Amino acid sequence: MCGIIGYVGYRNAVPVLLYGLQRLEYRGYDSAGIAVLDRLNNKFIIEKKVGKIKDLQEHLWGKNIEGHIGIGHTRWATHGEPTVENAHPHISQSDIITLVHNGIIENYAYLKEELIKKGYQFKSQTDTEVIAHLIEDEYKNNPDKSLLQIALNVVKKLKGAYALGIISTIEPDKIIAVRKGSPLIIGVGENENFIASDIPAVLEYTKKFITLDDDEIAVITKDNIQIYNIHGEKVEKKPFKVNWDISVAEKAGYKHFMLKEIYEQPRTITDTITGFLSQENKELYEKIKDIQIIHIVACGTSYHAGLVGKFWIEKFAKIPVIVDYASEYRYRDLVIDDKTLVIAISQSGETADTRFAVLEAKKKGAKLLSIVNVVGSSLSRESDYVLYTYCGPEIGVAATKTFTAQLITLLLFSLKSALSKNLISEKYFEDFYHDLIKLPSIIERELKDIDKKTEDIAFKYHNAKDFLFLGRGLNYPIALEGALKLKEISYIHAEGYPAGEMKHGPIALIDENMPVVSIIPKDNLYEKMLSNIQEVKARKGKVISLITKGNKEVIEISDDFIEIEETNENLYPILTAIPLQLLAYHIATILGKDVDQPRNLAKTVTVE
Ligand code: F6R
Repeated sequence: MCGIIGYVGYRNAVPVLLYGLQRLEYRGYDSAGIAVLDRLNNKFIIEKKVGKIKDLQEHLWGKNIEGHIGIGHTRWATHGEPTVENAHPHISQSDIITLVHNGIIENYAYLKEELIKKGYQFKSQTDTEVIAHLIEDEYKNNPDKSLLQIALNVVKKLKGAYALGIISTIEPDKIIAVRKGSPLIIGVGENENFIASDIPAVLEYTKKFITLDDDEIAVITKDNIQIYNIHGEKVEKKPFKVNWDISVAEKAGYKHFMLKEIYEQPRTITDTITGFLSQENKELYEKIKDIQIIHIVACGTSYHAGLVGKFWIEKFAKIPVIVDYASEYRYRDLVIDDKTLVIAISQSGETADTRFAVLEAKKKGAKLLSIVNVVGSSLSRESDYVLYTYCGPEIGVAATKTFTAQLITLLLFSLKSALSKNLISEKYFEDFYHDLIKLPSIIERELKDIDKKTEDIAFKYHNAKDFLFLGRGLNYPIALEGALKLKEISYIHAEGYPAGEMKHGPIALIDENMPVVSIIPKDNLYEKMLSNIQEVKARKGKVISLITKGNKEVIEISDDFIEIEETNENLYPILTAIPLQLLAYHIATILGKDVDQPRNLAKTVTVE
């Protein structure tokens, strides 16, 4: 949802900005641009291009642009089409201010009208351009004020969400960074400093970071970082260190980030189990004894994880659970009290729908637990309790490794809650843990077995116009997730359904052209699922079954099958999710789609 970067220091800013933008490209990729200050002439050089960062790089090839302070942006269009005019950075009327923005200015139409009345001319249809003109206007009215003071006055007029990187010819050695509702970090270097929407953008140069909080503004020079609150008072913040290597943000020989991230799952699951068990969270498990209802709130893939979590929490911790799309939850009349626990699930911890929905619930008295992957993200800081998934950065736009890590976290959370309520014994927990800890090696074997198999199936069915994914119980949300993965990266229409619902309408869709992916491991609903598949077969649907190894009964009625190892039936959703990720991946690559950056999408959706 747009990525921003800024650099001030001893290096040429151009390669630093381009490198960072490449790592932020997952946040938006319809156009990109950079601005650097040419100190000799005290003038900005701004270059923009529609398309991806590589198009911008090609456009800059041979131009020999240099500057030691600069900003950059990769865009996911909200206001105005992807054109050069709408691409960032935007510049003010007299070319004294240029800035990049991630977010949405809700009152931009009113502000624009006011500025037009004052004679400002707009070159773009964006909401962002108003900020550049507003700053210039404020400066013209108050030429004696510092850039910080001017920026403070301007942000008070803005409604909406924004992370801003601003540079000017007035105070040419400074980047002003502002945050409200959209993520922004400061990378702390030696004789150089950075701003970015996300850590991997500058991980090549520093491992020390400061997270800006909402309503904070930073003045950054090459050797100083000063942070203020919205009232202009100084705020002291200590940098934190990350211990990731830059290789986690590289493809490491894989053709796509998505494939790499699918293959990382044995490790990310091990890390998530170990990470979970190393945190005590005494207060959370004390509070859980008191909780009468849980609301799980999330979007997309994280929502699907929540649907699986509901089964586990109700089964083990015996607490009723409602799962809702964040964008719907926020606008319902919520019945909430202090015995309600709201669980926000979010890979990024920045999704606007999720954040604002759960903050609403928190205001009404609920306790807030978040399950997030990004340390220091907004949600992690806004919550009463946090459980991290330990996946490192996920770059592919389609969530894969973070989904299975969310499942592991929800499962362990429900078991720990059951333990604290004395609903299960320590021995039960330990036996369960024994099964759980075998999962990474099962998945390693699974990946070896099924990669080629799913590719063959993908070849056979990649021309299908529609797909159905069926499952029951714990595997019904996996059917939803399988369909979502396929839609978002291959653009093939796909739907997930609880198999028992087919006879109530959707079975009318079945004919010899409809591939039906049926998730049917040997679990408590196996027999029911088997009857549902037979109903599909009887109507000539093409059945692709996901089965427990060697299940001849299902093999006989299937056109194709993928086998997973037998294990504790509660763990099947983790094992069944992975072949569906690979199936979607292979279909999309056969169709020549941009797997890591599918059209119209962005990794982190920080607008409503
Ligand atoms: C799909 C996908 C999205 C996200 C959704 C929520 O592959 O990645 O559906 O799951 O946008 O994002 P987070 O989890 O960051 O809140």
